[in-house]
Amino acid sequence: MSSSPILACVDLHKSYTMGRVPVPVLNGIDLEVREGEVLGLVGASGAGKSTLLHLLGLLDVPSRGAVYLRGEDVSSKGGQRRSALRNRELGFVFQFYHLISELSALGNTLLPAMVAPRPWTWLLQRGRERARARALLTRLGLSARLSHLPAQLSGGERQRIAIARALLGNPSVVLCDEPTGNLDSRTGQEIMDLLFEINREQGTTFVIVSHDDRLVRRCHRVARLADGSLEAVYNPQQPPAS
Ligand SMILES: Nc1ncnc2c1ncn2[C@@H]1O[C@H](COP(=O)(O)OP(=O)(O)O)[C@@H](O)[C@H]1O
Ligand SMILES: [Mg+2]
Repeated sequence: MSSSPILACVDLHKSYTMGRVPVPVLNGIDLEVREGEVLGLVGASGAGKSTLLHLLGLLDVPSRGAVYLRGEDVSSKGGQRRSALRNRELGFVFQFYHLISELSALGNTLLPAMVAPRPWTWLLQRGRERARARALLTRLGLSARLSHLPAQLSGGERQRIAIARALLGNPSVVLCDEPTGNLDSRTGQEIMDLLFEINREQGTTFVIVSHDDRLVRRCHRVARLADGSLEAVYNPQQPPAS
């Protein structure tokens, strides 16, 4: 594992406005995500974990401070440029899967390629993308479920589709927001195992928001947020007193 930061933020602030009143949510976060690591992000509900994940994932823009991808300030780029970087470099997995109910497992996995900014890319590459989606779903244990709709699948199977979709573009970093939060203990464990296997096999970097102790203990490093500030970054084998 190399230790250069693939993703970083410096003095990151975020406020939401409620009516006219700004409500500060992140108060100056400095954090580096190292290439090839699994970084856990923990903290009480409302601490700002999802907000930070969205900012690191270029899904939202900071009120102040900057996000760096491979050393390049990406937060100040325009929306189109940020979308292009996001499509090329980042993948997302959410607690509630966010699948399209009318699309099959294969269709959902292919969605990022189908909505690529240049439609002709999809037309030219759909055969290859389809083969890749099939291979990914097979890798994730879903070879017999390719044409199933989300409603016909279990929670664990739906989350596997969401993982396949996140991996389709071969992202450098996958950002996960409570990926096992909606699953029973055993299924959660299987999803966890998959994420760590992908990290080992492909060197994909992961940032995972989680309340699940079993998952957090397996992370390479853990960052703890409290009230919008970074309270500690530590090795989960030697956690500081909280
Ligand atoms: N779109 C929004 N508008 C206003 N307040 C928000 C918005 N999103 C989140 N918040 C507030 O920001 C705080 C942190 O939220 P969040 O990042 O979702 O925390 P966590 O993921 O750690 O539970 C919470 O107090 C939440 O109510
Ligand atoms: Mg959250």
